[in-house]
Parts: sequence; structure tokens; C-alpha cells
Amino acid sequence: MTRRTTALSAAVALAAALALTGCSSGDDGSSGDGKPKLEVSGAFMPQPVMDMAGGFLTIKNGSGAADKLTSVTSPLSDDITLHETKNQKMQQVKSFDIPANGEISLARGGNHIMFMELKNKPKQGEKVSIELHFEKSDPIKVDVPVEAPGHNPQQH
Ligand code: CU
Repeated sequence: MTRRTTALSAAVALAAALALTGCSSGDDGSSGDGKPKLEVSGAFMPQPVMDMAGGFLTIKNGSGAADKLTSVTSPLSDDITLHETKNQKMQQVKSFDIPANGEISLARGGNHIMFMELKNKPKQGEKVSIELHFEKSDPIKVDVPVEAPGHNPQQH
């Protein structure tokens, strides 16, 4: 009795060990550290006229892994949120999707970064440092140039 039970336990333990080995061996197909490759361009902030400001930029994703912009921090404000514009109304969203091998553009009249309760009013020609935080990628620091209040690179 005792001996048979022991042999059975040993067999179970062996099977479990084999299963573990099977799981951890081999290539799972991921490359590198598995993080999306993000590149930020075209950032600007129109010179604020009140104690709030919008931030605009483009994030390019050069990898096959999608990511999300989840938050933005800056010494300029403790109240920074992500906004989309729907039916000409702004509303807060939790994150912006950055598609694999694609890009997301934050632009006037559309998605933007919203800075509220500014601690100072940056002027045209100055730069505001911000940090973008993502779901997967490491944070990216960006020095955002302050442009004229009506600046809009989409208008030619
Ligand atoms: Cu807004």
C-alpha cells in the first residue's frame, strides 16, 4: 500500500516537472524587450490666455506592439488630463490608443492634453517640460515649445 502510493506520488511529481520544463523552454516569438518603439514629434502648446492650456503632439509607434498614452505630468500643472473632442465638446478620457505600426495625432479641434490650474503662464518662445507615461513603454520627456495663442500647424 505505502509503496504503491509513493510510486504514484513520484510519477505525479515527475509529470509536473516535465510540464514545467515544457512551459519554460522554447521561444515565445517575442523580440527584444517586447516594448513598443515610440517617437514623439511636432509638440507645441499655444500660449495660454487663461490659467489653462492645451498640448498637442504626434506619437509614432514603429513596432508591432500597440501601446497607450495613459497620463502626462509636468511642473506646469498638477491637473493634467487627456481630452477628446466630440461634437465640439471636450471630455476626459482614460487613455489614447497608439496602434501598432501607426501613430496618434493630438491636434487642435481633436484629441489633446489638457493643462488646468497652471502654476505660471508660459510665453511664446519658452518651453514647457512634460513627461508622457505609457501603458507599456518607458516614460518619454518632451520639451514642448510655446507658440502663439492661435498657432495651428494644420492650417497652411
Ligand atoms: Cu480639453
